Amino acid sequence: QDDLIHTFNGISFTTRSSPELLKSLVTFDAREDDVLLVSYPKSGTHWLSEIIMHLYASEVALTSPIEFGDVSKLEQLNRLSCKRIIPTHLDGNMLPPTFWHKQSKAIYIIRNPKDIAVSMYHYYRANPNLPTIDSWPHFLEMFLQGNVVCGSWFEHVLSWEKHRNDNNTLFLYYEDMKKDLPAVVKKVSVFLGVSINENGIREICEKSSFSEMKTNTEKENHDPNHTVCALTSNRKLIFRKGAVGDWKNNFTPKQNRMFEEKFNKKMAFSEVAKHLVYEC
Ligand code: A3P
Repeated sequence: QDDLIHTFNGISFTTRSSPELLKSLVTFDAREDDVLLVSYPKSGTHWLSEIIMHLYASEVALTSPIEFGDVSKLEQLNRLSCKRIIPTHLDGNMLPPTFWHKQSKAIYIIRNPKDIAVSMYHYYRANPNLPTIDSWPHFLEMFLQGNVVCGSWFEHVLSWEKHRNDNNTLFLYYEDMKKDLPAVVKKVSVFLGVSINENGIREICEKSSFSEMKTNTEKENHDPNHTVCALTSNRKLIFRKGAVGDWKNNFTPKQNRMFEEKFNKKMAFSEVAKHLVYEC
């Protein structure tokens, strides 16, 4: 169990992120034209990466997460000569500083943490690379304490929120993508400076629908070993429900009160959290 997880800077990582790599991240050379795809796990990383890859008609590389792999990772990324789309679940304070110096673009995708907790619970249960979880109440406690892979959702959001008003950072909400995907695709295209017409947007929305992505993954049209999430060892485990509000099927009223209490305390001054679709 314990040999699946290690701690670095107080945050839990799977052993698929080697301590040597995590230590060497500060030396990474970011480029001006890099695009970071930032998320806490289970926020819609795969969905957004699909959209971004359809947006770029030219040669770009969607890499595996910067924190995923061993110490040779940074060298591998260095060797890529094309534009790099780099996913990461890193806390804002752990990001290689050159990303800030070079003003590389970053898109942060955020989702209602109650739905994330449920999604992550199912994911832990299905994934042999993560510790065994005995029950939902126990997992929820771990989640609220930040005692899960990638650490606390609250700290993650707060660490990135500091960059909310940076010109090179865009915050997106999973719930907005569910409500009006064409509008979000348009927003992303403007942010990335990619021109696209209405037809193009419609096509991207079709190709990145939940059912289309799930079917394509089941048909193995995607390399199952390629991951945009350092927790994912099997892409087939990603497409579970893809819904907003599934937490209501899992939380007891008492668990909801406990969650709300923690949320209100931690996120009291968070602008980003204020805009979450967060019905009680
Ligand atoms: P659920 O477990 O609630 O279904 P990530 O990619 O960051 O690991 O996030 C995974 C979550 O995003 C899963 O949530 C998954 O179903 C959902 N998801 C993936 N692709 C989606 C899509 N095209 N539309 C809606 N939700 C999607």
